[in-house]
Formats: sequence, C-alpha cells, structure tokens
Amino acid sequence: MSYPYQIKSLEEYNSAYKKSVEDPEGFWENIAENFTWRKKWDKVLEWNFKEPKIKWFINGKLNITENCIDRHLKTLGDQPAIIWEPNNPEERTRVVTYSRLHKRVYQFAQVLINNGVKKGDRVCIYMGMVPELAYAVLGCARIGAIHSVIFGGFSAQSIADRLYDAQAEFIVTCDGAYRGGKDIPLKSIIDDALIGNRIVKRVIVYTRTRTPISMLKGRDVWWEDEMEYAESQIEKDNIIRMPATEMDAEDPLFILYTSGSTGKPKGVVHSSAGYMVWTNYTFVNVFQYKPGDVFFCTADVGWITGHSYILYGPLSAGATSVMFEGIPTWPDAGRFWDIVDKYKVNTIYTAPTAIRSLMSYGLEPLKGKDLSSLKVLGTVGEPINEEAWHWYDENIGKGNCPIVDTWWQTETGGILISNLAGITPAKPSWATLPMPGVQPVLVDEKGNEATEPDEDGLLKGNLCIKAPWPAILRTTYGDHDRCRTNYFATYEDLYFTGDGALKNKDGYYRITGRVDDVLNVSGHRIGTAEVENAINMHAGVIESAAVGYPHDIKGQGIYAFVIYSHMHIDEEQTRKDIFQTVSRVIGAIAKPDKIQFVNGLPKTRSGKIMRRILRKIAEGETKNLGDTTTLLDPAVVDDIQKGKL
Ligand code: PRX
Repeated sequence: MSYPYQIKSLEEYNSAYKKSVEDPEGFWENIAENFTWRKKWDKVLEWNFKEPKIKWFINGKLNITENCIDRHLKTLGDQPAIIWEPNNPEERTRVVTYSRLHKRVYQFAQVLINNGVKKGDRVCIYMGMVPELAYAVLGCARIGAIHSVIFGGFSAQSIADRLYDAQAEFIVTCDGAYRGGKDIPLKSIIDDALIGNRIVKRVIVYTRTRTPISMLKGRDVWWEDEMEYAESQIEKDNIIRMPATEMDAEDPLFILYTSGSTGKPKGVVHSSAGYMVWTNYTFVNVFQYKPGDVFFCTADVGWITGHSYILYGPLSAGATSVMFEGIPTWPDAGRFWDIVDKYKVNTIYTAPTAIRSLMSYGLEPLKGKDLSSLKVLGTVGEPINEEAWHWYDENIGKGNCPIVDTWWQTETGGILISNLAGITPAKPSWATLPMPGVQPVLVDEKGNEATEPDEDGLLKGNLCIKAPWPAILRTTYGDHDRCRTNYFATYEDLYFTGDGALKNKDGYYRITGRVDDVLNVSGHRIGTAEVENAINMHAGVIESAAVGYPHDIKGQGIYAFVIYSHMHIDEEQTRKDIFQTVSRVIGAIAKPDKIQFVNGLPKTRSGKIMRRILRKIAEGETKNLGDTTTLLDPAVVDDIQKGKL
C-alpha cells in the first residue's frame, strides 16, 4: 500500500494546507481518487451551515469495508490486520490477517442477513474488546446496517435510552467482558435494558466469559451457532465473496452517542465516504504511518477514538492495528509496555489520563521492557499537561519519538488539529496546526473573531470551524434541529466545538478545555446536566449541581453539591447510595468524586444556579469568587464554603 497523499515535509504541509483552503473540492477529489469506488462522485461538495446541510462526494457509490478489507487482499492477505491482546496475558493472543478478517466479516454479514437485518437498520453493539467486536462493526458496514456501539461501562438505563432513541431492532453482545480483575456481565445488563422494550427483535450473543446467562427463546441466539450456520450456507452456495452492499457516499455509516450540555446524549451520525476519506487521511498523515508498522491505539471501540483509529483509519490504510482487551494497570502498571515490547509496536496512541495514571507508579513498571520499536507517540481526549508530556517523551519515547497531540471530537469523526509526527513542529501541551481542510477561528461570546493578542501575544476565544471537512457530523439521529442548535446556531455560519482555545503567533492552537457544561473525566465526556439528572433521581435528593474540578489523574473530577430532604442523615451511607443511583442511571464512569451536602445552592433572582461560583469553590478558591451581589441569598456561599470537602 502506498500513500501518495502522505505529507513529507513542512513545505508540503504548507502547500497542502493552502490548496485545501483555496480549492477544497480539487484537493479532496485528488485524495478520494485513492480509494475504491463502485461509482465516482458527480460533485465533491455541497454545504451550508444554516440548516446544516453537508454533502461530500455527491452520488459516489462505495462500501467502506471493501476499502478496509477487500482491496488489501491481493497484496496484504497474510498481513495481520488486527493483533488481539487478551485481558489476561497468559491467554493466547489472536492474530487476524486481512484474509481472515475478510472471511469473518462476510460471514457475520450473512448472520445479520439471516437474522433479518437490512440496509439502514440500526444495530446496537455492546461488547468487550474482542476481535468479534470488529467483525460485528464491519459486518454491519458491509450490509449497510447502521452500527451504534455502546461502551461497556454504560448502565442498562443508558442502553435503554440509546436503543429507544435509535429505534434499534438488533443487538450484538457478549455474555460478559473481562476488564482487569473484573468480569462485566454484559448480557445481563442488556436483559435489564430490554425490560419493557418492544422494539428489539434479536440479540446475538458471543461467548467470552462463559458467565451463566439467560437466553430468551425467539429473541436471543448464540453467535457461534449463527456463524456456523452462515459458514455452511456459504460453503453450500459457494458464496466465496459475499458482495458488499453498495452505499451512497452520504448513507449513514454509524451513530455514536455523546454527551452535550443538555441532559440527553445525542446520537452523532457519520456518513460513509467522507468519514472514510478523513480517518484514512488523518491516520496516514498525523502518525506518518509506514507500511508494515504496528499501530496501537489503546482506546475502546465504544468511543470515537476506537472507531476511527483502531478500525476504520488503520484498516483502510492496510495497517496492522493492535486491539487490547484489558486495562493499563492490570495485572500491573507495565501492561502497555509489555504489549509494545511483545508486538514491536511502532506507534502508541493513548490518553493523557492513562499517562498520568502510569506516571504515578514511577519507573519500576518500565524496567526490562524494550520500547526501542517505538517511533511515534500520540495523545487524545483531553489537554495534556506539560509534566505528563515530558514524562511520555523522556521515559517512553526516550527523547526520540515525536509526540502528536491530537485534538478532535466525536462530532468531527477524526483528528482536526495536531502536529504531523516528525514533519511539523511539536510543542508541549499544544495541539499546534490544523489539518489540511480545517479552518479554525477563535471568537468571543458574540461571535466576533479574536484579533487582539493579549500581553503574551496570544489570541483567546471559543474554538469554531469555518467550513466543513469530509468527516463532520451530518446530523443527530432522529432530530436534525438538535444538531443545528447544538453546533451551528451559537455563531452564524460556524461550527462551534464547545472548546476554548489559545492561538500563538505561529498559528498554533492550544485547547484549554470545554466552555460549556460538559466535563471531561479521564478523557470521557460527561454532561453535568446528565449527572445532575441522575443524582436527582435518588429518593431524598431535592436538588443538585455538578461541576468539574482539577483532578491529578482524571484531568477533571466531578464535584456534586446536593440538597437532601432529611436534616440528619448518615452522610457516608447516603453518598454511597447516591453513587449507586448514578451508576444505575448512567454507569460507573459518571460517579461523582465528591458529594457535599448543602442547605442551598447559589442562585440568581431568576432561579438560575450560578455554577461559576460552585466551580470556584470546587477548585479550592476561597477569595475571588467573582460578583456575588446578584445572588438571591449571598449567605449560601459562606455556608457552602464552610462545608467544603
Ligand atoms: O474538550 C475536547 C477534548 O475532548 C472533547 C471531545 O470529546 P469526545 O467527543 O469524547 O472525543 C474524544 C476523542 C476525540 C473535545 O471537545 N479533547 C479531545 N482531544 C483533545 C481535547 N482537549 C485537548 N487536547 C486534545 N488533544
């Protein structure tokens, strides 16, 4: 596989960037030529951000799995597509070559067809990190079913909400999943999610943990039986290569739910062609992937990073992608480095929270691990502090590996701002330069472009993007207006990211964090409104307010202020009960780190909670709480401060 569009120097970056802005259609057309199309596009781009309406490669026809698998078969059939590392290092590794991946994907696609799944149907996937998860995702894409992967840490209630929102009729799951020392009973969580659900027709269950599970006649079927049957059909009918379903460039490929500032997660919808071109282009350029390199993205496929940089980006580039079932600290904190050593990993792509967590174990877990295969290091998901950046650089990269700090979002489909490894300069804690095709702009509250640098020469503002790139979200499932109001209505003719940023005189961007009510806890996005809704569901809770505060490892922790109905409670016990409620409603990932019981919340006369004040208190600020004169009852603030945890 060669990548004629791989940028090889700073000059090439500059000229690619210039062309992408001056002639976006010509620029992307040249890149799209490098993929397999059933039919080429009639027009490259049509868009407006008002509705929004965004279409790339109009009337182009393709199937993304032919680009991720079939086109590599001749030359890379025996090359590992996925190297799977089990949770338990004693267990056998699995290496899935491109030929094997091809076979399993069309076999599972046949299973889906046998179970009544059609193009456009929504299939919810709730599995652990096993190769079968990749077969399930790609099997859906092969027949044009829209996959909606749900991270294994979400609760039954969260799944139920997502199933309902997507009107999903099919589920693929596992009996259980191994994560570190824990077994997560996935099927039993699905069973809870399905109580009262009248839409789901079929649940396909892959056996991983052999946890006893209930299997409902007529609804639940075993993956293994279904695959065996599909295999016999394939042999009998001699369907050696089941043709992939032809997809329009703009047909939806998947839905992925993500949190916003409102209580309900949104189903972000990505298209087929634009998403494919973008994940491939960014993968090849940001990481400077070379054929034969081993790429290890430590994310879970339940998040966008796993979709784009374990599966679609690497596979469309014919790369070898490592998929890890476990967690970085089990059986010990040297697990990532064992994996790097074992598979001679060339690029590791992980989250700052993982780096900070591993840093806290010191250098002992690195002893005896050969990391000399590493060429590129990457980070994603949250701002990386300088200390973690330098630790990563010195101890993992041994000062020889460029670090790419990649800024992007579920909605952007792939990386938007990042240095290109070894090609464009890196700067600790700065995501640096936009990818070709990305036109960032910093604006103030009113939408005016920031033009006056501060005394340090930095522009500051809310980060927006002026024009569409191929993988921008197309809609939010079932509610297009929600997409418009969330992303395109804050500022006219701009996509608003929800992040704040700085820009220096070299044009580098530094992302400073969310400016809306969205938290980033261990690289996971959680809306404060969602957490509050969950806390408020606990009997006895009258009202609550959740805010973020700096946390050494997680980046941000959740601090909840709760008004409880009874005066005399066992606080410790009640806290645990509330944790339990939040785990039930959202999942353990949204559990507050701290709960402070309070008598009142700081509110304006119109009844709005002044989160700014609560944020400052949670951050440990004692004096400069800002203007409190507009508060209905300023005394509440002293009260809260006295009880601060
Ligand atoms: O605040 C930004 C932060 O993560 C948010 C997007 O979260 P999510 O959709 O879950 O996607 C995470 C993986 C792409 C952004 O709005 N974020 C992501 N990458 C960075 C970052 N913040 C700073 N630096 C980054 N490199």
